[in-house]
This record gives sequence, C-alpha cells and structure tokens, in this order.
Amino acid sequence: MSIKEIITVPDPILKKISSPIEKINVNEKKLIKDLKDTMYDANGIGLAAIQIGIPKRIVIVDVSKKDEKRNLHCLINPKIKKFSDVRSTYEEGCLSIPNTFIQIERPKEIEIEYINENGKKNTMQCSGLLSTCIQHEVQHCDGILIIDYLSKLKKDLIIKKISKEISNNNKIIV
Ligand code: NI
Repeated sequence: MSIKEIITVPDPILKKISSPIEKINVNEKKLIKDLKDTMYDANGIGLAAIQIGIPKRIVIVDVSKKDEKRNLHCLINPKIKKFSDVRSTYEEGCLSIPNTFIQIERPKEIEIEYINENGKKNTMQCSGLLSTCIQHEVQHCDGILIIDYLSKLKKDLIIKKISKEISNNNKIIV
C-alpha cells in the first residue's frame, strides 16, 4: 500500500497542465498503483495524478457503489471526442477542495478515447455519473477545478475558508 497525500487548494500545482504519457513503464505502473491506493483510502470516485503532485495525464475512476464489486477505469492520455447536447447536473465535490460541493451542469454523455493500463488504445461511451466523473478528472489534467465554475468572489471565499482550516489544523496547544 502506498497512500499519497492529496494536494488541496490553494496549492498552485493543481493549476498545472499535465503532460501526456509517452510510454507505460515501471514509474507509470507505480503511479497507477499509488493513485488506486490513495483514491480508495480517501473514499473518492476519481483521482488525477496531478492531485498527488505528478503532472502526468493519468486519471482513475470507480463509480461503483459500496455494496457493488469495484469497477476501476484507468485512463491514460484521456481525450473526450464527443459530448452530447443533452446535459445533466450533479452536486460535485473534489478531494482537492475539502467540504465543498458545487452544482455543475455538464454534457450527459461523452465518448472518450484513452490508453489503458496495458498500453492499448480504447474508446468508451459513458453517461450519467461516470461521464461527469471522467469530465471532472480530465479537467484536472488541464488545471481546471470545479471552483473555476464560480464567480471570482465565491471562489476566493472558498479558498480563504480552506486555507484557514488548513492553518488551524497545524496549530497545537500544549
Ligand atoms: Ni477533483
């Protein structure tokens, strides 16, 4: 098990644009394993490599319910090829933005092209929660966060609140 620390706002690394993977070697395999361990430990349904500080285009998602079998998708160099006109709305949270939920409307269905863990090119159609989750994670690879959907004022307030919570966490009285 290798659980990594999940980076939270306002760390500027989250705004970085991740680079494509050229080849899946030992480092990439280790990174995928770290992402899995970290996401499941945090009870998340998606995680991008940049959230553990690695600016590479790898995301993992698993939207299965607690009582269902795990269903992990590992998407390397994900590229969304088609977006439906029909849209859906979810209340989205993000492991990098603690205690914050934002209603976001996105295309309901997408077609995504990616390379899987074994280096094979794949295409997947998805809708609903899986589609939303993948869109959210792919945006992490481009430095886009759910708070970027808000006005600057609201965004600044959330960042301020989280920064305060983080600094309070480090204070101790002995
Ligand atoms: Ni997120």
